[in-house]
Amino acid sequence: FTVDMDADAVGKGGYPFYMLKEINEQPAVMRKLVQHYFNGDQPQVDEKLLADLKNADHIYIVGAGTSYHAGLVGARLFEKMAKIPTTAHISSEFAYEHPLLSKKPFFIFLTQSGETADSREVLVHVNEQHWPSLTITNVDKSTLSREATYTMLLDAGPEIAVASTKGYTAQIAVEAILAKALGEYLNYDEAKNFDLKNQLGSIANGMQSIIDSKDDFQALASHYLSQPRNAFYIGRGIDWSVSLEAALKLKEISYVQAEGFASGELKHGTIALIEKGTPVIAIITQDRTAGLTRSNLEETQARGSNALTIVARHLAKEDDTVVIPDCDPLLTPLLSVIPAQLLAYYTSLGKGLDVDKPRNLAKSVTVQ
Ligand code: G6P
Repeated sequence: FTVDMDADAVGKGGYPFYMLKEINEQPAVMRKLVQHYFNGDQPQVDEKLLADLKNADHIYIVGAGTSYHAGLVGARLFEKMAKIPTTAHISSEFAYEHPLLSKKPFFIFLTQSGETADSREVLVHVNEQHWPSLTITNVDKSTLSREATYTMLLDAGPEIAVASTKGYTAQIAVEAILAKALGEYLNYDEAKNFDLKNQLGSIANGMQSIIDSKDDFQALASHYLSQPRNAFYIGRGIDWSVSLEAALKLKEISYVQAEGFASGELKHGTIALIEKGTPVIAIITQDRTAGLTRSNLEETQARGSNALTIVARHLAKEDDTVVIPDCDPLLTPLLSVIPAQLLAYYTSLGKGLDVDKPRNLAKSVTVQ
């Protein structure tokens, strides 16, 4: 009896590509993070880190690529739960622009690998100024982990596919854990009443239910995304942040020129690009903006777009394309990104491309 499987196939756990394996691992990563960071219903975070954050008048989140996109979501979490002004920045811009900073800054570096050169460039400057910092990373003892004041680990297991999936959702979950811990430390009701542990548990189940219907995404990808050269993801607020990540997934592995766009901005120029058959995918999870995004989508349909929707269940209508489970409005990216990951994966697969190793890209970028 011999097993005829090469080492690579074993590493992929029977999946054709690491990316699909890593998409599938996301529910388990959510559960692992709950185990790691919670004691009962309370998140456990280094008190010294919380004290340094409490002392800050502004939190600067710095990252590249997908990590920057996770930072955009994190900024909202810190502002809502800990009420400290927070902004997310692209590391390659921040490193060389030297923006005017607040008096008591705290820096959070988001980096799955812990090695991204542009992000490290910022950290070197931060250390020269003796400002406190935290690296949130998947790799213990990586460069940015060693050089920052504090580290929080993602516990996501190795991410091999160039296109980050579980890295993104793990980063958002860890940001949420830290934001809640900080908000509780500062005695804010918004944080104390946020049932994050239960939310992450039900989000893990919600992720699983989306992943279980992956055949539907294969059909959607083949129907809507296999031919066009351009596509748009649109949304408002937190849905816009996810649309940036959704578009990045699609372009990096399927080579469709995809843009993530603030849906209200379309009318100021970009709608000129809509032609018959252009796919426009709207992400709709927020009560306040759902109707507005829907009417922006209709404006593109009037110009011939192929409209698709990714909608939270309580906002869903009969014609919606993908309905995702409900969760707290601050955590919807953890669910709304999964359909986008699957659409990108199946578009790339359908084109016969190397999903895990797209052209011109590297997993870890150690040049500036
Ligand atoms: C590369 C990878 C991306 C990643 C980015 C930042 O471009 O292909 O997937 O988001 O680097 O990497 P980091 O390790 O800092 O999160």
